[in-house]
Amino acid sequence: MRPPSRRERIAAQLADLKMPGALEALDGVLAGVDGGGTTAAEAIERLLAAQIELRNGRRLEAAMRSSRLPYVKTLAAFDFAFQPSIKREQIDALHELGFVERRENVVFLGPPGVGKTHLAISLAITAAESGRKIYFGTLTDLVDSLEEAKAAGRLDRRLKILTHPALLIVDEIGYLPVTQSGAVLFFQLVNRRYGNGSTVLTSNKGFEEWGRILGDEVMAAALLDRLLHRCHIVNIRGNSYRMRRHAELSKAIHPLASRVDAESPASKESPS
Ligand SMILES: Nc1ncnc2c1ncn2[C@@H]1O[C@H](COP(=O)(O)OP(=O)(O)OP(=O)(O)O)[C@@H](O)[C@H]1O
Ligand SMILES: [Mg+2]
Repeated sequence: MRPPSRRERIAAQLADLKMPGALEALDGVLAGVDGGGTTAAEAIERLLAAQIELRNGRRLEAAMRSSRLPYVKTLAAFDFAFQPSIKREQIDALHELGFVERRENVVFLGPPGVGKTHLAISLAITAAESGRKIYFGTLTDLVDSLEEAKAAGRLDRRLKILTHPALLIVDEIGYLPVTQSGAVLFFQLVNRRYGNGSTVLTSNKGFEEWGRILGDEVMAAALLDRLLHRCHIVNIRGNSYRMRRHAELSKAIHPLASRVDAESPASKESPS
């Protein structure tokens, strides 16, 4: 029996190490080396990158099942040129996830359609790909789930579940009113997470309006005190990306009419 070739030995080692991504890439990488187009270092890098890509994809799939993330939005798909008020370096730095390590918070503020949820989700996805546990909810979803748990005598359990993820996304603070009892439950959640895990929040309202949203100025002040203690604030001022797509569409259909539309103030959204 002939001894196994080097390719066969590497394949067996990758299988033994449970690296199916690298195993699948192996033949292509070796062909690149044999053809002289790939250096040894490049080959190693490509093998490892293939394995990391597979692992990240699996982590993301698992997170999509358990985190209630509504859809995938990535940093790569975000058009910074459309939203010049956003400092790209700040967003890139946040995606390095040091804030999660330090249990700091992030708040995205701005009017509708400027990318608050997109960027919150892309942070969550980056965190999920790095192996961290994430959870996503609108303020209304989270408060409803806490209200239900309280009515069923399981509030403490629910609070523990929501305190556990390294990253919790609280989307849409400010669109729907919260009952006073709901606001108290949200305060309890923020209080539990304080110092234990990072929270990313989005809101179309400035902090001065949070007292009204939560129906209690004193509690909102205490909540903001905790949230903002270690917090990165991304204040987005600009036009809605959703409106841009409408403008593009109507320009394609009615080039002249859309020129008028694009210039009318009704097609713009003012910053909050
Ligand atoms: N700069 C951008 N580049 C690419 N896509 C963008 C950008 N800004 C927004 N989008 C897209 O536009 C849509 C609206 O953005 P998003 O949901 O993040 O807005 P929002 O600020 O959360 O608005 P709302 O306050 O209404 O919830 C999404 O599909 C998002 O992916
Ligand atoms: Mg949103």
